[in-house]
Amino acid sequence: MDVIPSEIPHGEVYNLLLNTVAPRPIAWVSSLSASGQPNLAPFSFFNVVSANPPMLGFSPGRRAPKQPAENASSVGDSPVGEPKDTLRNVRETGEFVVNIVAFAQAEAMNLTSGEYEATINEFEIAKLEWASSKLVRPRRVALSPASFECKLHQVLDFNHGPEGSSLVIGKVVCIHIEEQYLKDGRLDRNSLDLIGRMGGIQYTRTTQRFEMVRPKVE
Ligand SMILES: Cc1cc2nc3c(=O)[nH]c(=O)nc-3n(C[C@H](O)[C@H](O)[C@H](O)COP(=O)(O)O)c2cc1C
Repeated sequence: MDVIPSEIPHGEVYNLLLNTVAPRPIAWVSSLSASGQPNLAPFSFFNVVSANPPMLGFSPGRRAPKQPAENASSVGDSPVGEPKDTLRNVRETGEFVVNIVAFAQAEAMNLTSGEYEATINEFEIAKLEWASSKLVRPRRVALSPASFECKLHQVLDFNHGPEGSSLVIGKVVCIHIEEQYLKDGRLDRNSLDLIGRMGGIQYTRTTQRFEMVRPKVE
C-alpha cells in the first residue's frame, strides 16, 4: 500500500507516523512563562539533533480551538490553533529544561500531559519534587535520570492552521545526571529504565537490550 499524506485526513497521517516512528524518547519539558508561571509537559516528537554543538529538538503541535470563535483569526477557512503553553513560554523566555523519563516517572509524566490552563502548575498536579537548574530559570524534575538545560536556538513553524506544528531547537548549556545513575563518577547506561512512546496510548520499557559490533571497513 502506498499512502500520499496530502490525500488522507490529518488524523490518519498522524496515526501512521505515531505507530511506525517508534519507540520515541520523551522530552518532559519544563518552562516558565514571562510572568514566572511554571509549566511541565511531555513531547515525544523529540530527539537529539546535533552532538557538536549539543542540540535537542521537540515538536509541539497547535491545540485545536475548542469552538471556533466568530472573530478568531484564520488561515484560509481554518481557525488558527492555539500554541501550547510550552511553545508560548519558550518563545517568551528563550529557556527550557528537557527531563528524561524513566519507568518510575511514567504515571507522573502522563498526569502532566493534560490540556490544563496556563495558570496550572503541572509539578503540583503530579506532586513532583523539583530542583533548581544551574544556568536557566525553569526548574528541573528532581528524580529524572538526566535533565538538559537549554537555551532556545530556533523555532521553525511548519503550518499556522489548527493542525500546524513547530520545531523547537535548543542548545544544551548544562546536563544534570541524577546521582543514583552514576557508577565511578560516570553515567551507568544499564541502570536507566527509560520509557519510549509507541502509537496510541502504548509505551515501551528499555530493559531488554542486545549488542552488535559495527563492521570494520579497512
Ligand atoms: C507521552 C506523550 C507524548 C506527547 N508528545 C507530544 C508531542 O510530541 N507534541 C505535542 O504537541 N503534544 C504531545 N503530547 C501532548 C502534550 O503533552 C499536551 O498537549 C500537553 O497538554 C501540552 O502542555 P502545555 O500546553 O503545557 O505545553 C504528548 C503527550 C504524551 C502523554
